[in-house]
Amino acid sequence: MRHEDVPAAERLSDEGFYELDVRTQPADWPAPARRTSEHSAGWERRAHHFLDTDPGGCWVAEDDSGMLGFATSVRRELMWCLATYVVRPGLQGQGIGRPLLEAALHHGRGCLRGMLSASSDPKAARRYRAAGFELHPQMFLVGEVDRSSIPVIDKVREGSAGDIELLDSLDRRTRGAAHGPDHGLLLSSFRLQVSDTSTGTGYAYTSPGRLQLLAASNRRTAQRLLWAVLADIDGRALVPHVTAANHWAIDVGMAARLQLNQAGYLALRGMKPPSPYVHNGALL
Ligand SMILES: CC(C)(COP(=O)(O)OP(=O)(O)OC[C@H]1O[C@@H](n2cnc3c(N)ncnc32)[C@H](O)[C@@H]1OP(=O)(O)O)[C@@H](O)C(=O)NCCC(=O)NCCS
Repeated sequence: MRHEDVPAAERLSDEGFYELDVRTQPADWPAPARRTSEHSAGWERRAHHFLDTDPGGCWVAEDDSGMLGFATSVRRELMWCLATYVVRPGLQGQGIGRPLLEAALHHGRGCLRGMLSASSDPKAARRYRAAGFELHPQMFLVGEVDRSSIPVIDKVREGSAGDIELLDSLDRRTRGAAHGPDHGLLLSSFRLQVSDTSTGTGYAYTSPGRLQLLAASNRRTAQRLLWAVLADIDGRALVPHVTAANHWAIDVGMAARLQLNQAGYLALRGMKPPSPYVHNGALL
């Protein structure tokens, strides 16, 4: 993949994930929607970041008609992460995805660990299992926060670039590899909150209405941060990507009267589900 491929990749991923939502989303959920221009711009910025840090991890499949599919992946210390992987709707299930994933996986050769957030598409699950990943079902919490449930929250402050060393050390402790250059992108895209006390440390990135990433040295600090995140959300709140290793998040979500649902898998190689940790879908 080259930088000039990014706009076509963005359109293809929007189309692919919209079609997946139409195909797999329960009927009583909000109707699937195409991306807003703001969302598309953020997606493109992230893809350029992957091409800057990991040109060898990003691959496209194409023929005379244009782009058929692509995969973007990165190496962070000794961990390989798959960020996005999609084949054009109508062409899926015909063997285009397999060599794309193989090319991206080759970028991770020598890595001890691998991590990706899989969609509910059974074709994706099949590819990841064939590549040796363990599939850990993901849950998510959604709904309006019951304001009367919110406890007194202290020891949480706004974060900044000055916290990056702390964030990287929490990443190493929870998932075995720092996010490194991804923290710059995360900081420019999301709000960062940090808790740093004598009894524990942690951080959370959020975008309006949703948690993007959370890591902490213990469950108590993780719960304090999640409450701080929920307290600041007006309207519908979303806490995605909760694995069974993170019941501390389910307990907070249920206390806030959010609803628990399931979607997709955290797919892992060479590691157990991180905890206390709520991963980001693309930056993991
Ligand atoms: C996941 C995806 C990129 C894979 O690309 P692809 O071209 O479909 O992949 P392949 O055809 O190489 O492999 C698909 C596998 O699923 C099998 N398959 C095909 N149709 C299937 C179906 N309806 N249900 C289950 N398996 C199916 C294929 O036989 C193949 O398995 P095999 O190689 O063991 O025979 C593509 O399906 C896609 O874009 N899905 C929607 C977006 C998505 O979910 N992306 C992954 C995000 S994590």
